[in-house]
Amino acid sequence: MDYETIAMSKDGPVGTITLNRPGALNALNEQMVKELISALDEFERDASLRCVIITGSERAFSAGADIKEMAGMTAVQMAMTGHFFPLWDRVGRFPKPIVGALSGFVLGGGLELAMSCDILVASETTQLGQPEIDIGVMPGGGGTQRLTRAVGKYKAMEMILTGKRIGAEEAKALGLVSRVVPKEAYLTEARKVASEVASRSPVAVRLAKMAVNKAFEMGLSDGIDFERELFYLLFASEDKSEGMAAFMEKRSPQFKGK
Ligand code: HXC
Repeated sequence: MDYETIAMSKDGPVGTITLNRPGALNALNEQMVKELISALDEFERDASLRCVIITGSERAFSAGADIKEMAGMTAVQMAMTGHFFPLWDRVGRFPKPIVGALSGFVLGGGLELAMSCDILVASETTQLGQPEIDIGVMPGGGGTQRLTRAVGKYKAMEMILTGKRIGAEEAKALGLVSRVVPKEAYLTEARKVASEVASRSPVAVRLAKMAVNKAFEMGLSDGIDFERELFYLLFASEDKSEGMAAFMEKRSPQFKGK
């Protein structure tokens, strides 16, 4: 499909979606949200694709929801069209792993999009924040929940109530991003991580992702029971036989996702 606000590319088992509204610092408007969902649908259907990267530009991953589009909207229009909200649900529930490659501004809905990914690689220039309070609203794409789970109540409150941004190193210290690298390297580093994930068993990766995400929804003993069921299930996979045989034969495994 041809897209106007994003670009899609594929390199072996790794697919990349690049947000592409440079004039608006990749602000998420209705068209971009629809195109992102459609791109994710395409990548989900593609059985050869094992890991997705979502990225923006060096200046901005995304400066959030498009304020110019939202400015004229009423509460009822917001609730009835709901055009932003399906995106965060889609990314959060996407079955294949998603690496967010962050640089520059990662703000508002842009941070909420990033926090819906699974592994976050950030350039040292990255600035993350929930500045909605500055425009008289609050996070609406999961920010109050995901940021609080990621960094704890007190830092989340400070960020959400003051709108102040934090830098990449602070985000890493808080556990909000996985790695920080020089600005020339963030995309290469994201591709490296994505390729590593893509070389593992897609079945094991999918179930492991599901189990980690359940840690945010279940109590500890239910979560451990859930993990164990998935662990048993993997013993029915060809990839488990291949992985263990390859270990014993001292060779690299060839995982098929079966
Ligand atoms: C629409 C945006 C935008 C946004 C930037 N632009 N952010 N347009 N929506 N969120 C546009 C600017 O209007 C400008 O276009 C161009 O991008 C460049 O931005 P500048 O402001 O000139 O750049 P700079 O001075 O470097 O400042 C960068 C910035 C600032 C600090 C990121 O743009 C900013 O504060 N943006 C808003 C960030 C924000 O509040 N995000 C949260 C949105 S609410 P023109 O054509 O005017 O030159 C949200 C809620 C989601 O995300 C909840 C779920 C529904």
